[in-house]
Amino acid sequence: MSIPNVSGRFSRVLLLGGTSEIGLAILSSLSLDPGAEVILAGRDVARLEAAGKTLNRRRAARPMAKTATVSGAQPGPASRGDDPPYPPITVARYDATETGAHQAFAAEICAGGVPDLVIAATGILIPQEQAERDVRLAATMIETNFTGHVTALLAFGEAMRGRGSGTIVVLSSVAAVRPRKFNSVYGATKAGLDAFARGYADSLHGTGVRVLLVRPGFVTGRMTQGMKPAPLATTPEGVGAAVASALRGQGRGDGKSVVWVPAPLVGLATVMKLIPRPVWRKLKQLSPGGRPPYPRGATSRLCASRRCRLRKWTSSRRRRRRRRRAW
Ligand SMILES: NC(=O)c1ccc[n+]([C@@H]2O[C@H](COP(=O)([O-])OP(=O)(O)OC[C@H]3O[C@@H](n4cnc5c(N)ncnc54)[C@H](OP(=O)(O)O)[C@@H]3O)[C@@H](O)[C@H]2O)c1
Repeated sequence: MSIPNVSGRFSRVLLLGGTSEIGLAILSSLSLDPGAEVILAGRDVARLEAAGKTLNRRRAARPMAKTATVSGAQPGPASRGDDPPYPPITVARYDATETGAHQAFAAEICAGGVPDLVIAATGILIPQEQAERDVRLAATMIETNFTGHVTALLAFGEAMRGRGSGTIVVLSSVAAVRPRKFNSVYGATKAGLDAFARGYADSLHGTGVRVLLVRPGFVTGRMTQGMKPAPLATTPEGVGAAVASALRGQGRGDGKSVVWVPAPLVGLATVMKLIPRPVWRKLKQLSPGGRPPYPRGATSRLCASRRCRLRKWTSSRRRRRRRRRAW
């Protein structure tokens, strides 16, 4: 049986989206006890095993003695006897879109001990124009980023409530703050997830179960590959460190249920909420956590046209002034 979470010590940790760069960075940043057990859950066992190896490499400095497997899970190479010096990492098959199987999945994982920490890191970012062309892609994005989190987290959250302890980390995004024309579907999934996490946190308040809502901005990595970094861009390691710090009850996330990464993003998010809609519609630079603003060439073209308009306006103003003086 797992030891309930006391002062940020986790003995059984589940990462939903076991190959997630951010999720793995969070795990790396946590000072897990040598006996802690990590379960990486995702669609592809080979990719999960590879992720387990990278986690092991990152944590290789910490010697381990024990190995373990999860009921119904595929033991990863990290948990095999021939590769013993690492923490016991197991892998489990989990598909966010198979919402009908989530209750049974949670029951199977919890049969080996209710996790102390569940990190909900599954997510996809399908470009808006693709979702507009093929609406099935929009549905997949909604199921992966929103519906699947709700069903899985309710199942694990209720098990934690029953035990009276646990922590759930939900990866929302600054994209949840205000939808943009470039990411209306992705932004909506994050806004829905964000709202669910806040409401469910209130429902769990006082039960010993904590929900930590994480709102990163643009994170350079696989999900944002090829995109132009937005203002206040961060890295998976940056998110990992901020989340680990908040879970330990240190830093700016101390005692709070929401963590912005980086911390100054909260200011930008406030500004984002205040911008009048007609202006917001035209804004392209304030785009953390979503599609790139626009191709580099287009940026300079736009700047050139703005400069041109500014020059025309200034010279007409000068002309008007000269005419006034002449009078
Ligand atoms: N990167 C950013 O800029 C950014 C900013 C704010 C918030 N976020 C959020 O942070 C979370 C983690 O992002 P990341 O940067 O770590 O992305 P990532 O490295 O691409 O990880 C996404 C994870 O989701 C998993 N996944 C996708 N579809 C799934 C499905 N149907 N069932 C189960 N797992 C599925 C992927 O597994 P596979 O290996 O099977 O593909 C992968 O493990 C996401 O929720 C993302 O929206 C990211």
